[in-house]
Amino acid sequence: MRTVEWEKGTVRLIDQTKLPWELTVVGYRDHERLAEAISKMVVRGAPAIGATAAYGMALAGLTSEAETMDALRSDLADAAERLTLARPTAVNLVWGVERQLQLARDEQWTTADEIRAALIREAHAIADEDVATNKRIGAHGAKLISDGNTVLHHCNTGALATVDYGTALGVIRAAHEQGKQVHVLVDETRPRLQGALLTAWELERLGIPFELIVDSAAGHFMSTGQVDLVLVGADRIAGNGDVANKIGTYSLAVMAKENGVPFYSVAPRSTVDLSLPSGDQIPVEERPGEEVTSLFGKSIAPEGATARNPAFDVTPHRYLTGIVTEKGVVYLPFDLGLRRVMEGEEA
Ligand code: MRU
Repeated sequence: MRTVEWEKGTVRLIDQTKLPWELTVVGYRDHERLAEAISKMVVRGAPAIGATAAYGMALAGLTSEAETMDALRSDLADAAERLTLARPTAVNLVWGVERQLQLARDEQWTTADEIRAALIREAHAIADEDVATNKRIGAHGAKLISDGNTVLHHCNTGALATVDYGTALGVIRAAHEQGKQVHVLVDETRPRLQGALLTAWELERLGIPFELIVDSAAGHFMSTGQVDLVLVGADRIAGNGDVANKIGTYSLAVMAKENGVPFYSVAPRSTVDLSLPSGDQIPVEERPGEEVTSLFGKSIAPEGATARNPAFDVTPHRYLTGIVTEKGVVYLPFDLGLRRVMEGEEA
C-alpha cells in the first residue's frame, strides 16, 4: 500500500512509529487527529506529510457542518492553521495545505458540496503526482550512480517518506532497477533512528545491499575512500540552494567536501521555497529532549539530564554538488537553476 491513502472518508497511514517490528495501518477521520499524527511522526518525511496534510484538508471539508461556501472556507482556513502548525520545517506541508485553500477559493464552485468533492479529488491528484514525480527524480538521479558505487544515505527518504517510491532512496532504487550494483551505507540517524528502523527495512524489502553505520562513522568511511557519493533528501530548499534536512546533514556535507565526495540533495519542486532567499530564514523544529535522553522509552542518560534536540539543520549551498529534482539536476549557480526549474523548464 501507499504510505498515505484515502478510503471512504478515512485517511489511512502506515504507522511509522511501529516499524520495523509491525506493519500496521491507522485510520483518521478528522483533521485534528491527523495533525497530531503528523506531530508525533506516525507519518513523516516532507512529501508524505505534504500529501497527508492535503488529505487532512479534504477531511476538514467533509467533517465541517458548513452549509454555505463562505462558512466552509472559514472552517478550512482554521483547519489549515492547525495542520501547518503540526511541523514547521518541511515546506511541503504548507504547500499541500495552500494548494487546497487556493482550490477552495476558486470562483467556479457554486455550492459547499462541490468544494468538498473537489478537495478529495485534489488530494488524490497530489498523491498521484508525488509518485510520478519521484519516478522522474529517480530517472534523473540514477545517472549519477555508476555500477559498483557505494552511496552514503541519511535519514529515510524512501517510499515511507513520500506517498511511494521515495526521493534520494528512489534514486538508489532506480539505479538498482536498471541493474547497477549499488551498495548503501545507511546512517542510523539519531535520535529517532529513521535510517536503522525505516531505511534499512525498505532496502531489505527491495533487495538492495546495505550496511548500517552509526552517524559518527560517516567521516571515517569518506576519508578512507569507501564512499562514492552522498545522497540526502530535503525538507526545505531556499532560493539560493541552502538545504534544510535531517539533523546531521550539514556535518555530512562538510565532510564530503573535505574528502572530495560528491554530495547531492534530492527533492521534488514542492520542497523548494523561493519565498526565502537563504536558509537563514528556514524555521528549524526543536523536538522534545526525551528523544535524545531515552531510547525506546528507556533512559540512556542520568536522571534529570536535559538535552537539545534540533530535528533539522541547514546546509549552505556551497557544500552541495547538485540538487536533483524531477526537472533534472540543478548545479551552480543554484539561484538561477532553481528559478528555472520552478518555472517549469528542464534543468
Ligand atoms: O523528521 P523526519 O523524519 O520527517 O525528517 C525527514 C527528513 O529529513 C527527510 O530527509 C526529508 O523529509 C526528505 S524525505 C523524502
